[in-house]
Amino acid sequence: MANDSTHRIVTGLRSWIATAPPGAQLPSNRQLTAEYGASPVTVQKAMRALTALGMIESRPGVGTFVRSVRTAGPVDYGWQTAALGSPHARIPTLSTAQRTAAPDAIGLHSGYPDRELLPERLVRAAIARAARTDAAITRSPATGLPELQSWFATELANVAPVGVTPATARDVLILSGSQSGLSSIFRAIVGPGQPLLIESPTYWGAILAAAQADVTLVPIPSGPDGPDPDEVARAFDDTGARAFYAQPTYANPTGAQWSAERGLAVLDIVRARGAFLIEDDWAHDLAIDTDPHPIAAHDHDGHVIYLRSLTKSVSPSLRVAALIARGPARDRILADRGAESMYVSGLLQAAALDVVTQPAWATHLRGLRQQLRARRDLLIDSIREHVPEAHLDRTPAGGLNLWLRLPDDTDLERLARACEARGVIIAPGTEWFPAEASGPYIRLNYSGPSPDRFPDAARTIGTALRTHT
Ligand SMILES: Cc1ncc(COP(=O)(O)O)c(C=O)c1O
Repeated sequence: MANDSTHRIVTGLRSWIATAPPGAQLPSNRQLTAEYGASPVTVQKAMRALTALGMIESRPGVGTFVRSVRTAGPVDYGWQTAALGSPHARIPTLSTAQRTAAPDAIGLHSGYPDRELLPERLVRAAIARAARTDAAITRSPATGLPELQSWFATELANVAPVGVTPATARDVLILSGSQSGLSSIFRAIVGPGQPLLIESPTYWGAILAAAQADVTLVPIPSGPDGPDPDEVARAFDDTGARAFYAQPTYANPTGAQWSAERGLAVLDIVRARGAFLIEDDWAHDLAIDTDPHPIAAHDHDGHVIYLRSLTKSVSPSLRVAALIARGPARDRILADRGAESMYVSGLLQAAALDVVTQPAWATHLRGLRQQLRARRDLLIDSIREHVPEAHLDRTPAGGLNLWLRLPDDTDLERLARACEARGVIIAPGTEWFPAEASGPYIRLNYSGPSPDRFPDAARTIGTALRTHT
């Protein structure tokens, strides 16, 4: 909640309501103003929040009352079991990375950066400006705002080598986050029952999207330097697959960045087999020690389908990303987008475009590099000191995560529960493997709140590891 006083009143009244009988009358706004030392506007805001939560109702001229919740008994949804049958994909569960942690916990699990790493002032000003444009009340074209399409295309064209015809603005499809792009690509380009090569470990959301699209995953081992091109070639030849989903830059979870040579070798393999490389450049703006070199910049004939997201660098709330695809592949994906969501809110697109075209954006990215480096190094130092059993293959040159190998006999679920009981949330690595995990790994994200508590968190993990596994 934006306003701390509002939050304080809501929290106080929630505990009061929890013990009050339905229909009990709340103190008047004037009493609350005095009790909490808050302004009448703040009290009204808190009352609106509680009304929206369905906890209170106001009767004009009479007062505000605890809302009675009518339940006639527990509801039986058993009929749905027969109607739905067994699921065709894995039973949906919330990934650890998506969990909301208790406010006082140290969260090392989240996938999105803390607000202190975001260009908050730029974002707020951009939203206010966008609200005053026609984007606030008109429909965006299905492919996206032309200026934003151009911006994404230019970003890629700027790093294309001489001799490569770069993708154009027309090849860019704006998405509300790259996650939905993964689903569209898997449905429109791979198809149900068809094989898809995928690094192992890889992004859990890609594994989930593939499962929902009924795509058959073909895992390829991928270490700190990325996958071995010979393995990629062999997997294509063995399976007849026509697509490979990969993260060549600051992979989630390993942090791996492929060398330029490896990237071009994989592109050659893909090209020779008439296949697609689905390049997920999720961490393009999250560089620390190196610069990103998208393989898509080397593609001149539509073999690379490229995803780039702004949700982690601009704001998780401005869910804007781009998918760049060329030729009939672009048209098939666009048709899938039409069926799924038609178009992305022009307001969000206008705000995102405003942020990335401000001179202050480049300054923000430079500062972000420094902040990520400091956080990454602090977490590494803390782990080295307090969890010497943990092994880090390679310091990630970008991205948001440390991928740590723990001793073979580690019980990851027990460890995660023991850490959580002591107020530290970690992500067991199991979710990042498309098949069996190759060992007990955990993923620790260094972009969450309170980096000053990293040493405490590491101490907690070390203690839990030694007493619970
Ligand atoms: C590798 C990777 N791809 C895609 C996404 C999806 O991001 P978004 O939908 O916010 O653009 C994520 C989010 O964590 C990710 O880690």
